[in-house]
Amino acid sequence: MKVSRNRLIRYSPLDRANHWSMALMFVLLALSGLAFFHPAFFFFSHTLGGPVWARILHPFLGVVLVLLFYAMAARHVRRNLFDRNDVQWMRQIDDVLNNRDEKLPKIGKYNPGQKLVYWALIASIALLLISGVIMWRPWFAGYFPIPLIRFASLLHAVAAFVAIVTIIVHVYAAIWVKGSIRSMTRGWVTRAWARHHHSLWAREQEEAQRREQP
Ligand code: HEM
Repeated sequence: MKVSRNRLIRYSPLDRANHWSMALMFVLLALSGLAFFHPAFFFFSHTLGGPVWARILHPFLGVVLVLLFYAMAARHVRRNLFDRNDVQWMRQIDDVLNNRDEKLPKIGKYNPGQKLVYWALIASIALLLISGVIMWRPWFAGYFPIPLIRFASLLHAVAAFVAIVTIIVHVYAAIWVKGSIRSMTRGWVTRAWARHHHSLWAREQEEAQRREQP
């Protein structure tokens, strides 16, 4: 990748490949899941080759999403822990929404909104996995009592709702903060973008660069 003086690397090629495979899995899962949820969404089952294939493939794709998601999430866990600046940032949500970043406390690689998305996905994807395995016929459902399978089906719908709403917020925020999408397509951001939105992370990266190329 071409690295110029004006750019900072934000995501490796592996991170980006992982992220976009996960996004594709999520869309396929959400659409096929909606097809099972209500007849009004039945036509979405065709995204996986019709209702029979959708029913067979949905749980397997779910396992692929779980592996991809936790592989990526594990690499980012330290950066997503909340700190004292985050509380202040959330108190100043008015300044965030009005783009008055200069008034906000300094932020590391991720802002509190991104951290909330991260933890909401950690929780909802874990619940989707557990409830999904309990309902998965013909492999696992036979080991569980029927009332538990019914409860798992309710939990699966609630967790899917949380995950879908969270991803809608994630995509909206990625479009809203200009320059973000490029970090996940090309892997880099401009120094100005980093200093404006994630000044602590920018300083840390610039110091690391200076140490590498004195
Ligand atoms: C197609 C829709 C999607 C778009 C446009 C999108 C966009 C982005 C962008 C631009 C970033 C980088 C943000 C930054 O570094 O400041 C990012 C990070 C990330 N995305 Fe997505 N994304 C999408 C779908 C998903 C899905 C489906 C998931 C999970 C199921 C996901 C999970 C993540 C995670 C875990 C990060 C790393 C940030 C963190 O750890 O908080 N994304 N996404």
